[in-house]
Amino acid sequence: MSTQLLFADADSFVTPLLTVFAVDIASGTDANPLPTLLTTSDVLSDAASTVLASGEFKAARGETLLLHRPEGLKADRLLIVGLGNVKKLSPDELRIGSGTAVRFAKSKSIRSVAILFPEDRALSDEHLESLDCMPSARSLVEGALLADFDPDTYRSDRKDRSMEGITILAPAQQKVTQDEIREGHTEGMIFAAAQNFTRSLVNEPGNVLTPTELGKRTATMCRAAGLSCEVHSTAKLKELGMGAFLGVAQGSAEPPALIVMRYTPAQPAPGGKIAALVGKGITFDTGGISIKPADGMDKMKYDMAGAGAMIGAMQAIAALKPRIEVISVICSAENMPSGTAYKPGDVLTAMSGKTIEIMNTDAEGRLVLADGLHYAKTLGATHLIDAATLTGAVVVALGKLNSGLFSNDEETCAHFHQAARTAGEHFWRMPCTDDYRELIKSSIADIMNTGRDRWGGSITAAMFLKEFVGETPWVHLDIAGQAWIDEHHTEIAKGPSGVAVRSIVEWVRALAA
Ligand code: BES
Ligand code: ZN
Ligand code: ZN
Repeated sequence: MSTQLLFADADSFVTPLLTVFAVDIASGTDANPLPTLLTTSDVLSDAASTVLASGEFKAARGETLLLHRPEGLKADRLLIVGLGNVKKLSPDELRIGSGTAVRFAKSKSIRSVAILFPEDRALSDEHLESLDCMPSARSLVEGALLADFDPDTYRSDRKDRSMEGITILAPAQQKVTQDEIREGHTEGMIFAAAQNFTRSLVNEPGNVLTPTELGKRTATMCRAAGLSCEVHSTAKLKELGMGAFLGVAQGSAEPPALIVMRYTPAQPAPGGKIAALVGKGITFDTGGISIKPADGMDKMKYDMAGAGAMIGAMQAIAALKPRIEVISVICSAENMPSGTAYKPGDVLTAMSGKTIEIMNTDAEGRLVLADGLHYAKTLGATHLIDAATLTGAVVVALGKLNSGLFSNDEETCAHFHQAARTAGEHFWRMPCTDDYRELIKSSIADIMNTGRDRWGGSITAAMFLKEFVGETPWVHLDIAGQAWIDEHHTEIAKGPSGVAVRSIVEWVRALAA
């Protein structure tokens, strides 16, 4: 699915569903004014005037109002979508708004929708700068395409409600250049396609998406995108001495996969930076011998969401062509209990040479990442980023509205924060200062793979990773809370979210600048 961008008049546009955005303009002084439509079309405003005058529609974020046969318009229906209060307006609200429009259409089996690009002339000057054309167009497209994704691929009665047409309708006389809108539209399609690819991988059940299959699908994507890709398994892991990664993999009948992707720019910017994207790719996490409770274990197919995010990010990077070399290392395995599985009390030797006492086989993600991060450094990485559904503890700490962000470098961390803001994603920094190192000290080996109690669980996991990162600037994203959506949202389906893809790509672009 892609979106079409048209510079045309909304009044005469023929479509089953025309969407226009509305904002709540209430301020401290003026109590309950009627919402404002983000259009300069008088015909459209007139068509909506009666229902708006009723005061029933408040333009709250995600609120919708449908009119059939709107007077004076060629559209069959007019959908008004609220963006919330004008003071909080940003491209992020547009992403939610266009997503809400597409989810609405899909729920009614309407396959084609036109979304009116918000006309800023309808806003007062003080709010103009919150809606720059390029990011607005990008967000609109992202929201619409992300909303088109549904996770019911395995249902025989699948109601194939995929959209057939999504048109972004921008007024021809928009005072800012059409080029900016075009650029945003193109970028939006790239980001959304990458994020949806991630979601499609994360959505796959563990019996289908084994480490080997993840390698195959990644290689297929790389071929299409023009990236180089190597997929290795047990023999190579042994050759490299990846004892931590091998320890996790040894309990499963499925062989592990070490996937290495590479993007080489035509003209790298001076500085010789190499960004490395490392992903946790546990295709199913039973917990191993320290087995998880049965309740909710089915969801542990999404324990490769960090790997999925990196694979999606690489697809977008290949399309956006930043002037920086990027490598990605995916460590994929299945964490199973069996006669060959690793056990609590075992001591593993990581590729870096560090020895690890296993306290809990369910803390497997940090083990595969330890070898992945170290390997990325041997490949020349100057900047490291990893993403992982690493701990339940990060969900306890931050809930499901922020992912955990850990870093050993202020500048790199600040860059990531800015990248996340641009991408419209939410990360909250957590500490990983050296005073926490005590918690993973072992009397048997160099370090343990968990702390002795459950306090600060996401921090002990980050401290563990930090052991393998050394002085290289590094960002660690613990996405356990946000990689899977359990709650109803107006703008996106339940299931895999594809979180972190957009921020990671923005971070790579910022490094190249
Ligand atoms: N994959 C889990 C983390 C997880 C939990 C992801 C919930 C998504 C939702 C990870 O491998 C794990 O099991 N971590 C343990 C670590 C503990 C044994 C120190 C955890 O968080 O309980
Ligand atoms: Zn686990
Ligand atoms: Zn896990």
